[in-house]
Amino acid sequence: MRHPNLRVNTGRLLRRIEDLGRIGAIDGGGVCRLALGGEDKAGRDLVVRWMREAGLTVSVDRIGNVVGVRPGRRDGPPVMAGSHIDTVRTGGRYDGNLGVLAGLEVVETLNDAGIETEHPVAVAFFTNEEGARFAPDMMGSLVYVGGLSAEDALATAGIDGATVEHCLQEIGYNGPADCGTPNVRAFVELHVEQGPVLEAEGVDIGAVEGVQGISWTEYTIEGVSNHAGTTPMRMRHDAGYAAAAIAAEVRGIAREMGGDQVGTVGAITLSPNLVNVVPNHALMTVDLRNTDETLLRRAEQRLAAFIADLADAEGVKISSRSLARFEPVDFDPGLVDRIERAARDRGHSVKRMPSGAGHDAQMLARVCPTAMIFVPSVGGISHNVKEFTKDSDIEAGANLLLSVLCDLAEESTQATGGARASTRP
Ligand code: GLV
Ligand code: MN
Ligand code: MN
Repeated sequence: MRHPNLRVNTGRLLRRIEDLGRIGAIDGGGVCRLALGGEDKAGRDLVVRWMREAGLTVSVDRIGNVVGVRPGRRDGPPVMAGSHIDTVRTGGRYDGNLGVLAGLEVVETLNDAGIETEHPVAVAFFTNEEGARFAPDMMGSLVYVGGLSAEDALATAGIDGATVEHCLQEIGYNGPADCGTPNVRAFVELHVEQGPVLEAEGVDIGAVEGVQGISWTEYTIEGVSNHAGTTPMRMRHDAGYAAAAIAAEVRGIAREMGGDQVGTVGAITLSPNLVNVVPNHALMTVDLRNTDETLLRRAEQRLAAFIADLADAEGVKISSRSLARFEPVDFDPGLVDRIERAARDRGHSVKRMPSGAGHDAQMLARVCPTAMIFVPSVGGISHNVKEFTKDSDIEAGANLLLSVLCDLAEESTQATGGARASTRP
């Protein structure tokens, strides 16, 4: 372990989490900073200010990804920490923010100790990780690694109809940097687990081995509006009923498949949405996830067959649009080993585990050795204003990030375990 006595300034990190959490604060202790809105801009401005104050050279690319670089003794791809600072509408203060601010804290700690590393160290936050306003999720990091063109991302319209391009211009984060620069030597994302496993098992640290596959689909259901009192049940073409049946089937598929299969209907909008009118229109989303691609496909196929039968039986038209589709991702085994070892060296209990949530790291894994560190979420709660992680766990996670990044940044050889410098498509 390089610099074994180096420790982050926990007070500074916690204060920054609080300060950033005040921007877009909502009742109950949570945060609403939907991607590319006014609150996101204010959050970005604050983090960019901190990055500059820490001496980082900050660049903003066409899609609004922000990267701050601290030089090393030699030029070349930096070792990067990062995550996102956008939130869902009912977000917590830790999701994403922790990874960005802990990365910044690593830089501050190196500065305070006067340590110059062999390779540059970078901190990044990527645009629209959540996907709550614009689909797909992880949009900025997907563009960064060349998985989606900047043009297609910029043309994407959000749930309010505004495009990514328009919103980036409005908030002034349509930067001049080329997407995907700089190349990355290795990427490590610290994140709250957002699930119950670590807390339930009394484990301090998750060494994340990969991310499960994600399938998001939007369905539009067109039926016929009619009088709720006079229309016989057999003569209805009820878009509301069809939406409810799909929601029940999503739960049924997950229940019957068991294992890692999960399914969620997170949004349904009915029209005209009145007590005494059969709905003629429904717009809904389905989120299916599984760690196994074959099983995820099976769940998708089963739902598609159900929906075709339902449309026939109810006499409604159901059309679908894919919002996001990502296969399961494996992280770099050598880097996962390294995180596990470093956690044990620091006296922590550690568990190798998959991530249920999507993360920017799953995109960076396409171009460089990548892995994640999880710290426990109290009650396993996330995407909820009650999201909370104990200060002591934040401290442990940030110090682990510090030690892993320091080691990666000091190595002259690529020793991440199968490490490769990033190459872009
Ligand atoms: C992103 O947070 C997701 O997993 O939905
Ligand atoms: Mn997140
Ligand atoms: Mn999230």
